[in-house]
Amino acid sequence: MSKLVLKNIGKSYGNFDAVKDFSLELASGEFVSLLGPSGCGKTTTLRMIAGFMPPTTGTIEVDGRVISSPAGVVPPEKRGMSMIFQSYAIWPNMTVGQNVGFGLEIRKLPRAEIERRVDRILEVVQLGALKGRYPAELSGGQQQRVALARAIVVEPEVLLLDEPLSNLDANLREEMRFEIRRLHDEFKITTVYVTHDQSEAMVTSDRIVVMNKGRIEQVDPPHTLYGKPKSRFVAGFIGRTNFVERDGGTWSIRPQAIGLSAARPTANAVEADIVGRSYLGEYWDYLAKPLGETKPLRVSTGPNALFEVGQRVWLEIDPAAMVRVA
Ligand SMILES: Nc1ncnc2c1ncn2[C@@H]1O[C@H](COP(=O)(O)OP(=O)(O)O)[C@@H](O)[C@H]1O
Ligand SMILES: [Mg+2]
Repeated sequence: MSKLVLKNIGKSYGNFDAVKDFSLELASGEFVSLLGPSGCGKTTTLRMIAGFMPPTTGTIEVDGRVISSPAGVVPPEKRGMSMIFQSYAIWPNMTVGQNVGFGLEIRKLPRAEIERRVDRILEVVQLGALKGRYPAELSGGQQQRVALARAIVVEPEVLLLDEPLSNLDANLREEMRFEIRRLHDEFKITTVYVTHDQSEAMVTSDRIVVMNKGRIEQVDPPHTLYGKPKSRFVAGFIGRTNFVERDGGTWSIRPQAIGLSAARPTANAVEADIVGRSYLGEYWDYLAKPLGETKPLRVSTGPNALFEVGQRVWLEIDPAAMVRVA
């Protein structure tokens, strides 16, 4: 049986549909991201799962039990869920250990059991040595780990995270993605993770729900979304791509699926002019305009493939890498 089931969930503000006809089932222990641009309804969906507001339409079930419907909601504190917000406030006047143990104190667990569980989770998030410190004495990443430890230590049925890394700088954000996935592999808590960052969703998730204007565009594992996007919106949102019109349809071709060479490689290659380039260290990002066309294609090559702007080149497109999008 599915752990968490959303059936035709909708949320309207007046006649504006913030979320519409949203259906999703999470297996027990699954990690699913809600991914989409700002304003597409991610936070609204998560807040409905958490029980902060009733849906306008539809139902939410945990283990087959209805916990949300337009008729009413089981309140957040009775759902067995932990939620981490963008501003993951941890209590400044409590030590790391007290912050993490607080949820267990409320549940009135025996002292020794609390100590055991707090110590274990602090080891896992590599904060064992900092148990007695106060938040002001921690870095941003360490504070984020405290917030994660505090949410996980109570062993929630479902863990909800709303853009939990957006206050961290780029390097730390990248490191914490792996940390979040590692914690998931360790504790296997059913998780819904909200983000507008496609790399974050791809690193952490078993499946990604791509949202656009309150609706689901596609639900798939990361490699399927990237390789077989169903719509132009998904192809453009997950990674960089080129759109070309051919045979009355729109096709998506990834920049790295196009070969670039100075000499003609095969009979199928087409001639193009290099009209722009950027060096990104790990790769080159070229703009190559096929002869007779107006729109250049983006082409990614290895860092050692050198072409000058204005140079005539040959493009080779792998037909198997072309995906038809609606
Ligand atoms: N209380 C509200 N009243 C009216 N509109 C709202 C309210 N809360 C959110 N919205 C609108 O609903 C849409 C979805 O918001 P939200 O779920 O916060 O998006 P996201 O988290 O994907 O950025 C946005 O257009 C937002 O302006
Ligand atoms: Mg949001």
